[in-house]
Amino acid sequence: GRPFVVAIDGPAAAGKGTLARRLAAAFGFAYLDTGALYRAVALGLLRAGNASPSESDATKAALRLDHQWLASPDLRQEATGNLASVVAAMPAVRAALDAFQRRFAAQPPDGAPGAVIDGRDIGTVICPGAPVKLFLTASVAARADRRRLELEARGESADLARIAAEIEARDARDAGRAAAPLKAAEDAHLLDTSDLGIEDVFMKAKAIIETAR
Ligand code: C5P
Repeated sequence: GRPFVVAIDGPAAAGKGTLARRLAAAFGFAYLDTGALYRAVALGLLRAGNASPSESDATKAALRLDHQWLASPDLRQEATGNLASVVAAMPAVRAALDAFQRRFAAQPPDGAPGAVIDGRDIGTVICPGAPVKLFLTASVAARADRRRLELEARGESADLARIAAEIEARDARDAGRAAAPLKAAEDAHLLDTSDLGIEDVFMKAKAIIETAR
């Protein structure tokens, strides 16, 4: 039958990726991190020396997305994430990445029976018919703290106040844009992860999926 799609949306550093990977492993589903697509576009532009691209430049980069960038450790840098959220506000860039995401949902790789897809507009735009939609939130303080630990684990310097400010700026840009703004679908399950460990979030999400399947 149709692949079972789990759509996970939410703001930066809410724990979407960690949850998505665990759910995909638990159910044998394929995982797509759509933020990585926007980040790869941004990284390609940065590498080409174009830190403030026009919509047309960014769209060209998205249309010939070079998959080598998806494997670069620099994909996770704050500068990459920040430019990703700038190009993600451009409608033509979103349109250029749309088909790949929809194809992944309709035909997950390796014949997987389902897909876990995380991003900002998966439940609202890319997969509005997904049988399970999760919207992860967490306080700015909790998210800044997690991002700091991540950065420190990679040996990068991490100033908590600066991280919090960047998270807030990215949230404002993602939620305030006209094209596919960050928001929960009406039928999404809201999970506030501020005071929950990954195990608790995973168990809750797993129960939601098992009920829907
Ligand atoms: O999730 P991540 O932080 O990797 O995403 C980077 C940026 O890409 C986000 O801040 C957001 O602006 C953009 N994005 C998006 N739509 C998605 C996934 C990511 O606009 N589905």
